[in-house]
Formats: sequence, structure tokens, C-alpha cells
Amino acid sequence: MATATRTSSAGTALSTTSEIAAGVAQFLTPVVVDLEALVVNGKQAHWHVRGGSFAAIHELLDDIVAHAQDYADTAAERVIALGLPLDARLSTVAKKSTLPEPADGFQPWETTVVSVVAMLDAALVTVRAAVTGLDEVDLSSQDIAIAIEQGLTKDRWLLQAHVSA
Ligand SMILES: [Fe+2]
Repeated sequence: MATATRTSSAGTALSTTSEIAAGVAQFLTPVVVDLEALVVNGKQAHWHVRGGSFAAIHELLDDIVAHAQDYADTAAERVIALGLPLDARLSTVAKKSTLPEPADGFQPWETTVVSVVAMLDAALVTVRAAVTGLDEVDLSSQDIAIAIEQGLTKDRWLLQAHVSA
């Protein structure tokens, strides 16, 4: 088995492939969990938005959901490619996601925008923690987290701009 060695700023060596994989799983699994929650609750928001900006928000939410699913797939498959499983079962996502829950039922579009921006903000906290943490673990995995951060931040802007002055 190939062995890689990196030394963290704390001086501890991440010397084996399995240690690197475990570190990647530690930081990317919460990212996958939050993104899967964004997929489910983003669709909830997509279906229940109402009001004057219905069409724009309805369509934008579909883009945001599609991006979140792509990002989740990339992050999950990085963990799998390094040889570890991860738990993104529905019950685990419900238990461990950091995203705020949207309100039930139909929502005015302004409420929907604020709600989904809050979801994106929560996911971004998790993703940025992965970017920071993976710097000491595995730079290829950090690249994945950085790309997800860039994409989520852009989607947040496209949504937030509807309610910004
Ligand atoms: Fe739809």
C-alpha cells in the first residue's frame, strides 16, 4: 500500500494512507450530510414558494439543489475513493445536519429566500471548517472543499440578491 507523509503544524505526522483517509472522512462527511439536507429542504422550498418572484426563486432553487447534489457526490466519492465508507443515510442526515429547518407549508418568496440563505450559511460553516481542517490532512480533498465553498457562496449571492437593497 502506498504511504504518504505530511507533517501538521502541530508536528504530528499523518504518515499512513489510512490515517489520511480517516482525516478526510472526518471533515468531508459533515459536508456531505449538510449538502444532502440542503437537497431535501431546498426542494421543499422550491415546491412551496409563492408570490411575485415565484418563477425566479422556484427556478433558482432547482439550480441550488442540483449543485448541492453534485457537490455531495464529489465529496462522498472522495471519501469512498480513499477506502472508507460514510454514513449519509436519511436518519443520519436528519440527526446530524446543522441546517435550520424550513417552515412547513406554502411560504411567501421573501421568507423562502431568507430561509434558504440561512441553510446555505450553515452549510458554509461546515464547508469552511473542512477547508481549514483538510489543509493539514490532504490537499486534494481540500481542493474539493474549496470548490464547494466557492459554489455555495455564489449560489448564496444569487439568492440573497433578491432581498438585498
Ligand atoms: Fe420542480
